[in-house]
Amino acid sequence: MSGPVLVVGAGLAGLFTALKLAPLPVILVSPHPLGDGAASSWAQGGIAAAIGADDTPDLHLADTIAAGAGLVVEEAARILCSEAPARIDDLVALGVPFARSGDGRLKPSREAAHSRARVLAVDGDRSGLAIVQTLIAAIRRTPTVTVIEGYLLDDLTLAGGRVRGATFRARDGGPGLAVTAPATVLATGGIGGLYAVTTNPPGAVGAGLAAAARHGALVADPEFVQFHPTALDVGRDPAPLATEALRGDGAVLVTRDGRRLMQGAHPALDLAPRDVVARAVHAAILGGDGAFLDARTAPGPEFAGRFPTVHAAAIAAGLDPTRDLLPVAPAAHFHMGGVATDLWGRTSLPGLWAVGEVAATGVHGANRLASNSLLEAVVFGARTAQDVARTLRDAGGPAEATMADLPSAPAPQADPAGVAALRRTMQDHVGVVRDGQGLAAALAEISAMRTGADPVLATMADCAFLIAAAALLRQESRGGHYRADRPFAGPAQRTLTTINALEDALQ
Ligand code: SIN
Repeated sequence: MSGPVLVVGAGLAGLFTALKLAPLPVILVSPHPLGDGAASSWAQGGIAAAIGADDTPDLHLADTIAAGAGLVVEEAARILCSEAPARIDDLVALGVPFARSGDGRLKPSREAAHSRARVLAVDGDRSGLAIVQTLIAAIRRTPTVTVIEGYLLDDLTLAGGRVRGATFRARDGGPGLAVTAPATVLATGGIGGLYAVTTNPPGAVGAGLAAAARHGALVADPEFVQFHPTALDVGRDPAPLATEALRGDGAVLVTRDGRRLMQGAHPALDLAPRDVVARAVHAAILGGDGAFLDARTAPGPEFAGRFPTVHAAAIAAGLDPTRDLLPVAPAAHFHMGGVATDLWGRTSLPGLWAVGEVAATGVHGANRLASNSLLEAVVFGARTAQDVARTLRDAGGPAEATMADLPSAPAPQADPAGVAALRRTMQDHVGVVRDGQGLAAALAEISAMRTGADPVLATMADCAFLIAAAALLRQESRGGHYRADRPFAGPAQRTLTTINALEDALQ
């Protein structure tokens, strides 16, 4: 089997890029059976696009820029918003059954910080799952895509300063895999699993980010992690998400004694920007008041029909949303930072592109607007596919790619106690509210893990280092990065760095 393009990761970004690369042959490597373990499948809200009669890409752009707290790369965000309707057409053509109104037209709904109804959903809160399943069906019908399931990224392979593919370890401890390819696309997702409380699947521990960073790739804005304000606090890991659309439908945040939690915190109350709500929830929990979603009146009796996934999670925890308050806590949800890319998904390493959450295109700035993440995956997935095809053509046509078995290796399992300690450190010191002292203490712990004997923990610790080090160096508060010891905004500047530069800066 061979193909000129290696796509690493099979969430929405990997699947869509692979489809857009057709008829170029693609080797798509997934850590799990397709569809399992990808954060995209867990996305509840939907995908944003200005398709309403009262909406325009410029309005979408203005909301994206406002949410991003001064750090949005306007050119990238303009592409995101203006190419969104065409990518929605692609998804519809592939068969994604977006919600429609009685007259058959797409029916967008409203989410926090969007000035128009522009979020397209499927089956209430099952949007990500439905989109991913539709794409998997399309991938299975595409003969030029070779799907390899059950392999975890181990490292990128470089020769002559160019990325030439990657090596993988089998989840089951069987023979590893080496893929050689003239073009490699990283679509490995985010880093929520580095935190003790997260809405992300357990595999979201930054394998792609760490691999690229270790080879000197430019990294952008790693300190910007988005915490979702309302994960259900029901003792589950990962924490079930209670979508923002619930508050869009009228649910409100309250304290244990019934006080409206967002009263006085922001004029938009429960629909304030995500970072503001996350800090208010964090403070209420820390202050002993507790934080709960009150959905008893709205959506009330419509809860189960409108939000079947959240409803099932509540019921499984012994809570009836029509009768009970739902305990919530902020949870690591999305990484705005990542491997720096240009407007075509190109990283600073020749031969390597990055798409989706692992990439930092600059469209989210310091704080992502709801439902812009699935959109980023498809808009920049399409552009990446175009650029890869162009690059291979300019190089004189697709070179042959090869796959070879590597020796069997033990299943890549990190020491659970080490992983738990890292996740606790990130939660406590590199979380919703940070300060210089806590970040320095976290970096001391993380550094010891980076050089320890456990390779999986070392990879996680490399990502943790990028986040904590950039957070310590950013002497201000902005968007998802809030420092109690520097509560004001400074000059609006993106972080554009390398792992070595961060190490040097902290010497
Ligand atoms: C949500 O449904 O609240 C999350 C959607 C998103 O992260 O964009």
